[in-house]
Amino acid sequence: MSADFTDNKQIFINRHPLVQHKISMLRDSRTGTNEFRQLVEEIGMLMGYEALSDLPTKEIEIETPIEKCMTPVIAGRKLAVVPILRAGLGMVTGILALTPTAKVGHIGLYRDPDTHEPVEYYCKLPDPISERTIVVTDPMLATGGSACDAIRMIKEHGGVHIKFMCIIAAPEGLERLNKAHPDVQIYVGHLDRCLNDHAYIMPGLGDAGDRIFGTK
Ligand code: PRP
Ligand code: URA
Repeated sequence: MSADFTDNKQIFINRHPLVQHKISMLRDSRTGTNEFRQLVEEIGMLMGYEALSDLPTKEIEIETPIEKCMTPVIAGRKLAVVPILRAGLGMVTGILALTPTAKVGHIGLYRDPDTHEPVEYYCKLPDPISERTIVVTDPMLATGGSACDAIRMIKEHGGVHIKFMCIIAAPEGLERLNKAHPDVQIYVGHLDRCLNDHAYIMPGLGDAGDRIFGTK
């Protein structure tokens, strides 16, 4: 029996009809690169809106054309968006549309085709990172190896306040990530059935990086 995430306070599984509709369009093998890229960006923005709903605010005084009033603005920690290369890049512009002043870090990982284990090739993060709220993006959470490694690398650089956002997750990867990093809030666009023998998500959407960048 697969794990039940319903009562897990760190896991947020999206049910919004707009997000679900766009994910269905992504899955369709007839969706071309241009539309795919646009959908990933839009889903990034919609999911970012949800993931950032707990940002602290403070009241400031503003003078409207009618009168002075106290009104809320974002306060506290600054943001960093950290895509896992390559595919995570596709979600960044959607989040930056919401938070244009966020800094962007990059973590380069690819899955070894035989072992399915992540191989690191790049890491550049805003410095210092410890005071920032960090949103890690990757459309696919399959075995969870890449996400676990990326978050370990961010923690080794001092990152503390970390959220992870993916468009599609397999139960295996979600469970592994939550066990390895129970302090990290995980935002999932859709929870799929399982992995196949090649560690691809079923039904999934295929290879996210190849579909975003038109490679193969
Ligand atoms: C994909 C995806 C994730 C990883 C998920 O990247 O974007 O990073 O696989 O798999 P996991 O949960 O089993 O680690 P890939 O390794 O294909 O690299 P790419 O984005 O450069 O194509
Ligand atoms: N990476 C992808 O791009 N897709 C999957 O289904 C699994 C890993």
